[in-house]
Amino acid sequence: MSSLISALPTFYSSSIGKKFLVALTGGFLVLFVLGHMIGNLLIFVGPEAINEYGHMLQTAGHGMLVWVARLFIFGAIGVHAWATISLTKANRAARVQRYGFEATQVASKSSRVMILSGLTILAFFIYHILHFTVHAGNDYGSYMTTVNGEQVHDVYRMVIAGFSWLPASVFYIIAMALLCSHLSHGVSSMFQTVGLNTEKTAPFYHKVGWAYALLILAGNCSIPIAICFFGYGR
Ligand code: HEM
Repeated sequence: MSSLISALPTFYSSSIGKKFLVALTGGFLVLFVLGHMIGNLLIFVGPEAINEYGHMLQTAGHGMLVWVARLFIFGAIGVHAWATISLTKANRAARVQRYGFEATQVASKSSRVMILSGLTILAFFIYHILHFTVHAGNDYGSYMTTVNGEQVHDVYRMVIAGFSWLPASVFYIIAMALLCSHLSHGVSSMFQTVGLNTEKTAPFYHKVGWAYALLILAGNCSIPIAICFFGYGR
């Protein structure tokens, strides 16, 4: 057991270990994004449903659960970004000679797209936390309502106010399109890393990746589109 534990740093500093970390943290984030989208869609059920849900998340486990979740989510994003960037650097360093005609390198092109979409999603993520969690530059923190006789944060009103501003809605939609591109490739790569992707199964996992990514795109974009362009909740 102790030799297994002492072998872990060597494993994770190897390129296989880092790939495994990218797949593990990516898999966790894939599940988080789905859960978060299902929670967000409660906005269409009505103010009570989403406010009750938000209140439940904030108070579960005496308010501790939200901090444990934050630790895992922020940790997973940090490790995912660090491992991908260091893998890309190692790949570049391993190339004795740069290719004369890079456009033919499909793998290098898609990994460049992944880094770019990943960094843009990270920028969106920081904006999103400042917008809806830290309430930087807005007074959303003061929005309160009552659910079952209890004073709770009015998440419904906050989201309606947030997406009533056109630039914010447009930015969210662009970020969701990039998230879709990132997920479509990331999900099938994840199956490859864990050894499930063979020549025979590759087209299937490719389709699974796209189906999942399009589901997240449609679900998440329906919210800013309904509010900003169709006046939902306003
Ligand atoms: C249109 C799509 C989205 C909507 C409407 C949305 C909505 C929200 C809202 C309202 C909150 C605050 C909840 C509260 O105050 O109780 C929140 C928090 C959060 N969102 Fe989103 N979100 C969206 C997309 C995303 C995506 C794609 C990610 C990940 C890449 C994400 C990551 C997070 C995280 C991590 C938190 C929790 C922050 C914390 O409490 O520490 N969201 N979101």
